[in-house]
Amino acid sequence: MKRIRKAVFPVAGLGTRFLPATKASPKEMLTIVDRPIIQYAVDEAVRAGIDEVIFVTSETKRAIEDHFDVNIELETKLKKPGKESLLGELRSILPLSVTCVYTRQHEPLGLGHAVLCAKKIVGDEPFAVLLADDLIYSPEQSALSQMIERYEATGANILAVEMVKPSETDQYGIIELNAEGEVINLVEKPSPELAPSNLGVVGRYILNSSIFEELEKIGIGTGGEIQLTDGICRLLKKETVIAHRFEGIRYDCGSKFGYVKANIDYALRHPELGGAVKQYLKEKLR
Ligand code: G1P
Repeated sequence: MKRIRKAVFPVAGLGTRFLPATKASPKEMLTIVDRPIIQYAVDEAVRAGIDEVIFVTSETKRAIEDHFDVNIELETKLKKPGKESLLGELRSILPLSVTCVYTRQHEPLGLGHAVLCAKKIVGDEPFAVLLADDLIYSPEQSALSQMIERYEATGANILAVEMVKPSETDQYGIIELNAEGEVINLVEKPSPELAPSNLGVVGRYILNSSIFEELEKIGIGTGGEIQLTDGICRLLKKETVIAHRFEGIRYDCGSKFGYVKANIDYALRHPELGGAVKQYLKEKLR
């Protein structure tokens, strides 16, 4: 069985839900307390053993490249007594052993298309896909690491899932399981009446490279886009696809409310800020 070494991060989306904040900066660079959203996802991948991160970007996302690159000027300024911890912070953004690869999605044709843009870079090996909008807090073992463990035990394609509100099925890929716990159907954003269950796909996937063949065959789906869901739906007719109910708390940072909740919770957990933020919130709510 091949080790999961590569992770694809589709980051070409426009982030219109966060305008005007995202007019000139990528939505993935919005911060949760003191680090950009994308860094949480990349940290999760690197800690799970990924050594090649593949960003599928667009022309407005240069700040992401700069964030994961070395900034010599800044490092030179911080090479001074008393600034060691800041320098350390800067250098710990990405270990030198991890390679970053960037490829462009020239047209906004959807998540399936974005993943397909990484085909040549991924090659013939299983890989992970992480959607940075889904921030998952798992202090014990990250969601991706849990999934890699299941992949290593089964060799199957793995989708992260969680129960979603019945009224919100139209925001997720919704799965149907058989008695053995294998995924037998997957529908992109069905209305509550048509949803096969309340188990929604969250933005972590482990996929075999055979997904690319399927993505090449599907056409435009829900929302006028090439959907990863539709590719997986074809894949599950040939290969095993397992749903993994991860341990952890997911924040939907693609919505303003989810983003604010993440900021509050991460601020409360922050080693330096936590106490003061808790006190402040108590006073506010009194
Ligand atoms: C995408 C997928 C959807 C999945 C969701 C998880 O939708 O198409 O199947 O459930 O991510 O966040 P998006 O949120 O990009 O519209």
